[in-house]
Amino acid sequence: MDSQDDKILRVHRTKAQTKESYDKISWFYDYFAGVFEKKFRNMAVEQLKIKEGESVLEIGFGTGHCLKQMAQSVGENGQVYGIDISSGMLEVSKRRLEKAGLLDRVDLCCGDALKMPYGYNKFDAVFMSLTLELFDTPEIPKVLGEIKRVLRSGGRLGVFSMSKENGNSLLMRLCEWAHEKFPKYIDCRPIYVERSIKEAGFNIEYKKKVGLVGLPAEIVIAVRVIYDF
Ligand SMILES: C[S@@+](CC[C@H](N)C(=O)[O-])C[C@H]1O[C@@H](n2cnc3c(N)ncnc32)[C@H](O)[C@@H]1O
Repeated sequence: MDSQDDKILRVHRTKAQTKESYDKISWFYDYFAGVFEKKFRNMAVEQLKIKEGESVLEIGFGTGHCLKQMAQSVGENGQVYGIDISSGMLEVSKRRLEKAGLLDRVDLCCGDALKMPYGYNKFDAVFMSLTLELFDTPEIPKVLGEIKRVLRSGGRLGVFSMSKENGNSLLMRLCEWAHEKFPKYIDCRPIYVERSIKEAGFNIEYKKKVGLVGLPAEIVIAVRVIYDF
């Protein structure tokens, strides 16, 4: 681990605590979250350039806004999959998709993205919004390794995440302070998004630094390297 990694704060809550906390807030999550992220979340999905007929996975889908967007893009012949640790979030997403008449194109599962129940090379694209930064520092390469396993060669990964790349703003330090002080409640903290993805063996295709209510964030689109034996 080098000095930059040292500066990424650790995550001190268990998966059971994560599940419990997202289950609790799932029914009112959209009232306090999403307003500011929406623009960048949509931008990230658009940059993933999902095509009709594709097979796409979202990790940590929350209340299902992006699942809906992706289900529309893959069309009748495509399929969207989603994995989230919270059964409460799964229920909220299911209702949203049912209402939109898109549930038949979406296959949702409740589980930890570190152990995904999908086979090798299954997906054309994988997407994560405000979820990669919830994994503890040693887990980040592991979850990216799992994504590589389930993505086909040449498949795309889209990530929207809080970032440590844009300097050391006051708000970022406040967020890190809150994460350390209240680890049970403030689970997210900024990470090195592009660098983590590159180190996991992906090629970076697109990157954009954005400000999430003053907090630095990144959108990164990467491609799983095609091996030419
Ligand atoms: C901050 S929310 C983001 C939700 C949504 N992607 C968005 O942008 O609005 C993080 C989501 O990741 C899920 N999550 C957290 N840890 C997870 C894990 N280890 N595996 C799968 N999902 C996880 C949570 O239940 C929650 O729904």
